[in-house]
Amino acid sequence: MDTHTASRQIATPPDQAALPAHWSRNRRDFLRILGSGAALAALGPLAACSSSNAASPTDELRNQLLADERFWTEVAGMFTLDPTRRFMNIGTAGSMPKVSLDLFDSENRTKARESGNGYSNLLAERTQVAPGFGVDPDELAFSANTSSGMCHAILGIDWQPGDVIVTTNHEHGGGETPMAIAVARYGIEIARVAMPVGNNQNAALYATLFDARIRELRTQGKRVRAMMFSAPTYKTGTMLPIAELMEIAKLHGLISIVDGAHLPGMMAFDYAQLGMDFMSGAGHKWQCGPGSTGILIARNKIRASNPLPLPNWYPIHTSSWTPRARTTNGTATWDIAATITACGSLHTPMFHALVSSCALWDQIGRKKIETYDLALSAYLKERITEVWGVDRLYSPKDDPKLVSAITSFNPFTNPADVMNSAKSGEFVARMLSDYSPGFVIRNVNFPVIGAASDHYAIRISTHLWTSVGDIDRLVDAMADLSRKMG
Ligand SMILES: Cc1ncc(COP(=O)(O)O)c(C=O)c1O
Repeated sequence: MDTHTASRQIATPPDQAALPAHWSRNRRDFLRILGSGAALAALGPLAACSSSNAASPTDELRNQLLADERFWTEVAGMFTLDPTRRFMNIGTAGSMPKVSLDLFDSENRTKARESGNGYSNLLAERTQVAPGFGVDPDELAFSANTSSGMCHAILGIDWQPGDVIVTTNHEHGGGETPMAIAVARYGIEIARVAMPVGNNQNAALYATLFDARIRELRTQGKRVRAMMFSAPTYKTGTMLPIAELMEIAKLHGLISIVDGAHLPGMMAFDYAQLGMDFMSGAGHKWQCGPGSTGILIARNKIRASNPLPLPNWYPIHTSSWTPRARTTNGTATWDIAATITACGSLHTPMFHALVSSCALWDQIGRKKIETYDLALSAYLKERITEVWGVDRLYSPKDDPKLVSAITSFNPFTNPADVMNSAKSGEFVARMLSDYSPGFVIRNVNFPVIGAASDHYAIRISTHLWTSVGDIDRLVDAMADLSRKMG
């Protein structure tokens, strides 16, 4: 093993004093109600049981969010975002908190002053971050970003000609590209499940869709070997139900690869419990680390959550590897995350800044952040439903297993205009230029079952610096712009 040790300085987490004073760890409030993301599924029965003059579910959500507003305003104060804009495209890029920026800055200067190297597999840093993701340090690697993690995962597998990966038709280029390389290089095949859109769907549907597709392919004599899917998709924000889909992967003995670009920093998942072979996430999106950082979870031992053998896998980007068999039991035979992380001299300040951001998330509480992000998103989805109607949502809202903090919808007076790419692009541009504060959002195109051409939906990400007032202003501005654009 050829692992050099860099002189490393581990990012120290901000002390408790840096956290907002108004956060009560014992708050019983809506966080528990929304703990599983079941915003209105939980509030619905409450609303139904209460008297006729009770608040609507939307008002209920709003009130609950407002009750915690002071805390989140102070959290927002930990970032350096331009106050003349509202940043709601975190699905594309996050923003480092001040504590990480300061660390990055000072470490960069130290590195320059001392001509420091970056030969390391970052074991100490992985050890610090791994518990927040429910895994051991040998199962959490630092990658360059989601796309890099997807290349590590997909291109490392010992594909044989004729192997089939079952995936969806709503995947990102970060996963599509390594699959296309594997098609060209190893002769594998890609089979797809057509993605439903909108609120009229549930988690069980995805298990049925994947199971049926796998059985159909096997009936045709195809050698289905892996499942790859995004959770959530970057198009509709649909959280493909990982636990349910892992049951299908296990049932059919498949390698499981999750494009989880949006998971770190948004969702408080326990990856050892979920048991997928690979989950590739971004460090620079919801987790708010620096650009060119990612978190790749790689299954490296057998747990009850996934008793399938570990796949044969070879590193494709490393300077630290010795051929060794993978374990067949609960004890790892080698540190796969070290091999993935170590590739020549790394820019250690960058990864230390990511570790510092992860430490801040751990201190605030990953579940608390998830709950807030999902509650904001649930509120936005309800507001969109009130103004435009539920049929305009591409994102599901009522099945708690399918929700994420990404919301996609059609804002146009004439619904068919959502197929007009130029008009959709203009909507995004004018939401920034025509309003004060300007709103940073994006559009995203995707096929819809039965539609003649792609839909260009408007996509909004709600994160820990967003407030209820921001969402109200956003909805008002979007309604105004959709009227003006006709
Ligand atoms: C689902 C999904 N996968 C992969 C990527 C690529 O992310 P990265 O820039 O971290 O490689 C994105 C980026 O938006 C994404 O949404």
